[in-house]
Amino acid sequence: MKVHILLGPPGSGKGTQAKQLVEKFALSHLSTGDILRDAVSKGTEIGLRAKAIMAAGKLVDDDTVNGLVFARLQDETGAVLFDGYPRTLQQAEALAAFLSAQKIEMGLVADIEVPEEFLEARVVGRRSCSNNACGAIYHLENKPPRAENVCDLCGSPLKHRADDTSEAFRSRMEAFNATFKPLQAYYRGMANYRRVDGRSKPEEVFEAVVELYQENA
Ligand code: AP5
Ligand code: MG
Repeated sequence: MKVHILLGPPGSGKGTQAKQLVEKFALSHLSTGDILRDAVSKGTEIGLRAKAIMAAGKLVDDDTVNGLVFARLQDETGAVLFDGYPRTLQQAEALAAFLSAQKIEMGLVADIEVPEEFLEARVVGRRSCSNNACGAIYHLENKPPRAENVCDLCGSPLKHRADDTSEAFRSRMEAFNATFKPLQAYYRGMANYRRVDGRSKPEEVFEAVVELYQENA
């Protein structure tokens, strides 16, 4: 078993890239944002606690997120792709301890770099499939669905995430800027850390990421 990591700010394209990578390389997609949004929509105990924190663009506490991830990893057997996790140095260190105890190998750490001035428009214009099992990602301008507000893949209505407002985006960037440097410094020292230019079109970013996965297979 192996885990790969996608790092990057809100709207950098982690979800967009992850959805294609899991298909191409038969990985299991583990997005902590998706797991938490699912908990919120089901009204679980964690969901009830996380709802307001997420809508405000703040981070859910490390212990809760680590707990969700480690529970999910117990059910996995093949390679896993993390999207949105780890997000703090504490999460990275807790993950390293868990992987070492479970003898799970660390794979590629791809850091998708996109300057802040690109990100707000990506986030505010995003629309996501409301069917969690599908979760396809659209954008009103960059990637509009064929029929307005309807998912091309499963026909479910699209939704605007509660944290995809300009105000919540600013708070998400603050959370990112407050935690990312030490996290990046931690992974930058590792042999499998690679930077990816995330400014170009999604398909061009995908080509670059695929090359990295092929080199690091
Ligand atoms: P999460 O769901 O992880 O959100 P995020 O990190 O803010 O990232 P996004 O999902 O907004 O962006 P993305 O990088 O996936 O971009 P996407 O591909 O969709 O987390 C949400 C919340 O959950 C957090 O704020 C926190 O509260 C909580 N949480 C989650 N994980 C946590 C953790 N580990 N610890 C604590 N709390 C946690 O693309 C965005 C848009 O841009 C789309 O419309 C897309 O079509 C478009 N797009 C994508 N790529 C391109 C491109 N190359 N060019 C142009 N447009 C593009
Ligand atoms: Mg995402």
